[in-house]
Amino acid sequence: MQTELSKQLGVEHAIFGFTPFPAVAAAITRAGGFGVLGAVRYTAPDDLKRDLDWMQDHTEGKPYGLDVVMPAKKVEAPGSQTLTEADVEAMIPPAHREFVRDTLAKHAVPELADGEASGWRITGWMEQVARGQLDVAFDYPIKLLANALGSPPADVIDRAHRHHILVAALAGSARHARKHADAGIDIVVAQGYEAGGHTGEIASMVLTPEAVEAVAPLPVLAAGGIGSGEQIAAALALGAQGVWLGSLWLTCAEAELHSRKLTEKLLAAGSGDTVRSRALTGKPARQLRTQWTDAWDDPQGPGPLPMPLQGLLVAEAVSRIQKYEVEPLLGTPVGQIVGRMNSERSVRQVFDDLTRGFERAIDRVNRIAGRA
Ligand SMILES: Cc1cc2nc3c(=O)[nH]c(=O)nc-3n(C[C@H](O)[C@H](O)[C@H](O)COP(=O)(O)O)c2cc1C
Repeated sequence: MQTELSKQLGVEHAIFGFTPFPAVAAAITRAGGFGVLGAVRYTAPDDLKRDLDWMQDHTEGKPYGLDVVMPAKKVEAPGSQTLTEADVEAMIPPAHREFVRDTLAKHAVPELADGEASGWRITGWMEQVARGQLDVAFDYPIKLLANALGSPPADVIDRAHRHHILVAALAGSARHARKHADAGIDIVVAQGYEAGGHTGEIASMVLTPEAVEAVAPLPVLAAGGIGSGEQIAAALALGAQGVWLGSLWLTCAEAELHSRKLTEKLLAAGSGDTVRSRALTGKPARQLRTQWTDAWDDPQGPGPLPMPLQGLLVAEAVSRIQKYEVEPLLGTPVGQIVGRMNSERSVRQVFDDLTRGFERAIDRVNRIAGRA
């Protein structure tokens, strides 16, 4: 499964895998794809350094990348140059805090132990933290730097290019794709409405060819709703130079999901069991539908705050829900492809299934076209 881009990057398959877990990212790279480690949860540079050292030791010299989150739209703190977590805390209305307390109390969610920090922080979405991650990452031989939620700043693109690192950015519309191209990035990840995580409103089937046309000759990776080789064949037929998958890896044996109950929820979920909600971060993000998302999306409630306020508001609550595995509230970002994530497989098995499905699709199309 070779395209110009996969050849340029020296990978066997034009399959890019986004994942927050180093063991999954390394396994994707070892299986002949391109593993991309999500950095947003690394608020301490030493943690990222430790995991990049590990990636370096477990990728057999094959290429991998890093994904950071530098939102193009920022909330500014009055009178403050750099928004700190304390600035954000101060902007959260008391009624929203009360709503979180009441919702947790309704489900009898226990408190964290004294002194136990919430494992889930928002600071990875702050530009100064992402810049700290980059200071670490540029010391490693990463081959791709991706940014969610906007084009990376011009100096970051220049710095990456000086290190011979390709720069990618996620786009939910052809207009955003064009903006990224004008900003000087190298690859557009066109991410459809079906995708897990922050998404726009346009389905992949419509978005992929629109983005390809909008940024030609820049390469486009198709993202959103892809979980089989047949879907990869469809994306490549639409002009993509590869695919970018996020959800599918969540139920892989190598994934370090914090809760067995969550894995089971994902394995059991159907394609209609996700919702595009602002409950988690303040921006629309597709995730499992739970009683937590229902509470935030209820018109009788206060509704979510904008990013980054909502993320900070719910950080501790999310940690408590995860730690105590409070089933009705337990969720994660995941796309509609969750409906086909029905068994736990290794990353290697996923690659075998994807490549077999791709071959089947090509054979079928060749037969239809009278070429086989
Ligand atoms: C659990 C999860 C977390 C995600 N976090 C990020 C992120 O931090 N940065 C990012 O660029 N994309 C993130 N995404 C989106 C993925 O990069 C990818 O575009 C998306 O998952 C593709 O669609 P799919 O979920 O249908 O495979 C996330 C997706 C999931 C499922």
